[in-house]
Amino acid sequence: MCGIVGYVGNSEVVKALIKGLEALEYRGYDSAGIAVHTGKEILVEKKAGRLSNLKEALRRREIVGRCGIGHTRWATHGAATDENAHPFLSVHRRFAVVHNGIITNYLPLKRELAARGISLRSDTDSEIIAHLIDLFYDGDVLAAIASVVRRLEGSFALAILAASEPNALYGVRKESPLLVGRGRGECFLCSDVSGFSENCTEVAFPNDEVIVRLTERGAKAYDLDGKSLPLAFARTECHRSMEGSEECCMLSEIHEVPASVEKTLRSYPEEVVARLLREEHDEIAILGCGSAYHAGLAFKATMRELAGVRVTDYVASEFLTERYVGGEHPLFIVVSQSGETADTLRAVKRAKEHGATILAVTNVATSSLVRLADETVLTGCGTERAVAATKSYSAQVAALLRICLQYADIWGKIEKTELARYLAELSALPHKAATVLEGERTLADACRRLANASALYCLGKGADYAAAKEGSLKIKEVSYLFSEAYPSGELKHGTLALMEAGVYALFVATDPRLTEKTASSIAEVACRGASTFAIASEGSAERLGADEVYPIPDTIPAFSPVLSTVAMQLIAYYVGIYRDCDVDRPRNLAKSVTVE
Ligand code: F6R
Repeated sequence: MCGIVGYVGNSEVVKALIKGLEALEYRGYDSAGIAVHTGKEILVEKKAGRLSNLKEALRRREIVGRCGIGHTRWATHGAATDENAHPFLSVHRRFAVVHNGIITNYLPLKRELAARGISLRSDTDSEIIAHLIDLFYDGDVLAAIASVVRRLEGSFALAILAASEPNALYGVRKESPLLVGRGRGECFLCSDVSGFSENCTEVAFPNDEVIVRLTERGAKAYDLDGKSLPLAFARTECHRSMEGSEECCMLSEIHEVPASVEKTLRSYPEEVVARLLREEHDEIAILGCGSAYHAGLAFKATMRELAGVRVTDYVASEFLTERYVGGEHPLFIVVSQSGETADTLRAVKRAKEHGATILAVTNVATSSLVRLADETVLTGCGTERAVAATKSYSAQVAALLRICLQYADIWGKIEKTELARYLAELSALPHKAATVLEGERTLADACRRLANASALYCLGKGADYAAAKEGSLKIKEVSYLFSEAYPSGELKHGTLALMEAGVYALFVATDPRLTEKTASSIAEVACRGASTFAIASEGSAERLGADEVYPIPDTIPAFSPVLSTVAMQLIAYYVGIYRDCDVDRPRNLAKSVTVE
């Protein structure tokens, strides 16, 4: 959610910044902009819309320099306009600032600026930062930044250019990510490691409220009193994964589900996880946001069904505000593709205050979540470029199923023979997921009809309901079709009122023990005029009586979300395509949600 880059060194800065922004565009694409120190002054170019608009503007305007900052925006305060695009120049053009995060006390600060005769040109919470630094500046850039940092409430990652220092840039963060990179004769700032060029050989992760000053010779860190601090760099191999690519990512990433699940299971760190699972915990909780939370719901269903253990599920943002009534030594399994989601990270800190042990399930080894967690299970997806989570969700569920089986084994909740059967079935999932993908054309055809629905309801029971929730989220986020998920048995308590011609009910029905119940729900929906579509295990497909059925391979019911959601991901993709949506860059979304 907003991407920040900074560059100082021997290369042409505009090129370096644009390459970094290309890699970070998945974090927001409401606008993009750069500020460059030309040696004489700071020049800014920024444009609403995709990065291509900024590139187009830069083709018409030559900006040359060796030091600069850049930003790609996901709007929080103020519409997606040129005026609200970052960077912001301060009132005397002495500073340029880019910001990721939310300044929660920006209204009083704005009033303070107004009282001093400084009015804002944008509707953002970010512009005030540039003016405040200018206001506090008395010849010492570091001290001015420190004074402003002391005044800011909320979360921020900032990159700052000072007109008085043509060969330096500054960065500082609080709860939003900002990394420092170092190469030969150049230094970098970036919101995440995927935006660093391959010339960046070492990366450091500054702590909150540490100010870094970068020059081509290296990076120095300071606390808010100006005292020098150590900045620990680690060798890292950086590869920009998204450089300038325009190809469709979502579909290819859905096709990478089998490989991602397979790699996640193959690289599962059994010993490391066993150490945590063997500890006595008086509560097991699962926590995440969006698709990651939905993966947690699948885990919850599996723990109940296979291990007979109750798991508490927390949506991270809710966990932050509700009273904690959980255990005194809980194990929190925290799921996050990016490992940078602000709500999730804050929730982890809160859980730790309550004595929680944290087991992270994430796709990014260098993420903040990994640094906060006691142990980590890495999902083996490689970079996920499309904004919608697909292969990462599937890999998360696979990792969580593996955790469930290991827990059940350690605590004697399943027989060894059962365990062996489950483990064998787990290893069969990549192949079965590939089988689901083979029917892509059939699903694509059905999606021509689904795309014209007035609304879509995704329905299921147990693990199928967990999968229905994920499918429904995917459909609404990439196709903008109204979609909601319900436990199918809950329909008769109100929602049946909405079933009529034009509405589609999409049933996930993989558990053969529930086929008859699902068939009744399908009949109830159909007789009210709605169309019915079922994703069903081969064993139950015939008996459901839906208008259309897409059969998927049989598996242990608790494992079925890994398979049924692949079909749902394809449905979301094709419905999005038929509704003319930019499925890789859905509106109002960002890959990494780093604001609360
Ligand atoms: C949905 C989606 C989001 C993310 C959510 C959490 O396709 O991508 O709902 O799942 O923002 O993100 P992570 O997993 O990075 O914490």
